[in-house]
Amino acid sequence: MQLHQQRPHHDIAALFAEAKDYLRISAPMVRYSKLEFRRLVRQNGVQLAFTPMMISDSINNSEKARQNEFSTGPDDQPLIAQFAAKDATEFATSAQLIYPYVDGVDLNCGCPQSWAIAKGYGCGLLRQPDQIRDVVQTLRRTLPTDFSVSVKMRLLQGNDNETSVQKTIELAQQLEHCGVTFLTLHGRTAAQKHSKDTLNIEAMAEVAKSLRIPLIVNGNVESFQDACELHEKTQAAGVMAARGLLANPALFNSDYPLATATPRACVEQWLDIAELAGDHLLFQCFLHHLSFMWSNQMKRILRVQLNSLNSKSQVLEFLDEHCDLRPSVANSTPPVYTNCTYNHFTPPKHSRHLAAEAEEKSCWDAASDGKFFSEFKSQQLSSNNMEDLELGGLFADED
Ligand SMILES: Cc1cc2nc3c(=O)[nH]c(=O)nc-3n(C[C@H](O)[C@H](O)[C@H](O)COP(=O)(O)O)c2cc1C
Repeated sequence: MQLHQQRPHHDIAALFAEAKDYLRISAPMVRYSKLEFRRLVRQNGVQLAFTPMMISDSINNSEKARQNEFSTGPDDQPLIAQFAAKDATEFATSAQLIYPYVDGVDLNCGCPQSWAIAKGYGCGLLRQPDQIRDVVQTLRRTLPTDFSVSVKMRLLQGNDNETSVQKTIELAQQLEHCGVTFLTLHGRTAAQKHSKDTLNIEAMAEVAKSLRIPLIVNGNVESFQDACELHEKTQAAGVMAARGLLANPALFNSDYPLATATPRACVEQWLDIAELAGDHLLFQCFLHHLSFMWSNQMKRILRVQLNSLNSKSQVLEFLDEHCDLRPSVANSTPPVYTNCTYNHFTPPKHSRHLAAEAEEKSCWDAASDGKFFSEFKSQQLSSNNMEDLELGGLFADED
């Protein structure tokens, strides 16, 4: 099939091969790994970024969902779009729609939330390896070979419900055989939903050793040193961070190898990006990121005040007055936002089975704070650490 390309695609396999030691990767994060945040982490050492998970069914059926959930620009490369899809048709349709604007698509097989499993998404797919293989093979037949196709998964469980490295390796090797460009592995099983559940680094190392394609390892990377250590212990081709990058978007920046908190310069970059983004960046998203990256460095009373502000101008005044922080973009050129249109491809009729429902559906409610931020805020009032987070509950507001 001849698909229109908005820009040349990056060769993602080559990106891994050319990395000096390991590729630094920003994780898919519902609500948070959006364009402006990707700009910030790319300015701070990230070499490959993922979009938040998008629900294929919504993207395939609703122009509104496409416009709300995806944006990009010429500075937003290389980029992988992640989808929750339950079958090959859904995923292939999303892939063809988004093809002009990204370098690859990723199938979410890691979300352990009950709503996702009930719909056959996320970890639900790990129970049906045939389905995952079918999805990957269909994609490989449908899209040019230079377009990356990948899967993000967790460790599998055996019949005794314990971690089964063998089963994980079998599935990973089957996916390699079907033609995935790379895999991402989170070092916990679907049953291990909490951040306190021990990350199985040895298992990730075994899986990395068993593959010829690049493996990205993920879990508990909170600093530059954690990332280097996880790479050393697993010899994986890539290291992905999620919560660590929210807490310090400069985590992968080798200028700050010993940083334990976000450097001021990085917060200033965020203010600049937000200022130049104007209405493209919603206030709630701007404030949440600021709060994640900076509020630990403020007194408790100021944190509470920051989180209760209602507009960008109030936040800027507050930061100026209390933290001596302000944007410095007076003479900067505004960033370019790609005008994403989707006329190059008409989704087939059989993939439009939920069209009416999809029009209003989104994987999260933009008006609410969401579970991750709500928990962050309450932890902030009691202590400085997010000690035991239910990782599985982070994708949406349910569970
Ligand atoms: C707020 C939030 C949203 C997330 N959304 C997604 C998502 O859209 N897709 C996905 O595969 N994983 C998602 N995750 C899981 C992360 O990508 C990652 O696998 C997990 O947080 C463990 O990595 P960490 O220890 O670096 O945080 C999300 C995590 C967080 C904290």
